[in-house]
Amino acid sequence: MSFIVWTDGFSVGVGQFDSDHKKLIEYINTLHMGMISGHGMSEMSEILDALVDYTRFHFKREADLMEKFSYPDYESHISEHSVFIEKVNDFTALYKNGKKAFTLELMSFLRDWLMNHIKGTDMKYRDFFMAKGVE
Ligand SMILES: [Fe+2]
Ligand SMILES: [Fe+2]
Repeated sequence: MSFIVWTDGFSVGVGQFDSDHKKLIEYINTLHMGMISGHGMSEMSEILDALVDYTRFHFKREADLMEKFSYPDYESHISEHSVFIEKVNDFTALYKNGKKAFTLELMSFLRDWLMNHIKGTDMKYRDFFMAKGVE
């Protein structure tokens, strides 16, 4: 059983964002598997970096579309993204210095943040983008 399982209830109505979210879930699941099977620092760092890269890419895509259609909650949405990136960057730096380890607590933070963000904050743009004809 995967750490996070995608269900239709996660769909935000924008195809490219749904597939981005699936990819992010996949990265977090891969990290979780790596942690359980005791992967070393270099392997874990590689997955973590890939997760951060894809997260940045996805956040930019969301920001661009929100900007394009003058989405009213743009500012608060973007600041949630920034806080998350900052937290993950902080962890990554400590991890690579050997000052922090991968824990279930960190994995739960990643999972809960992503789930809550998709189901709460991202879901808020669903009807807005649908009304603009975005699919
Ligand atoms: Fe978002
Ligand atoms: Fe998102």
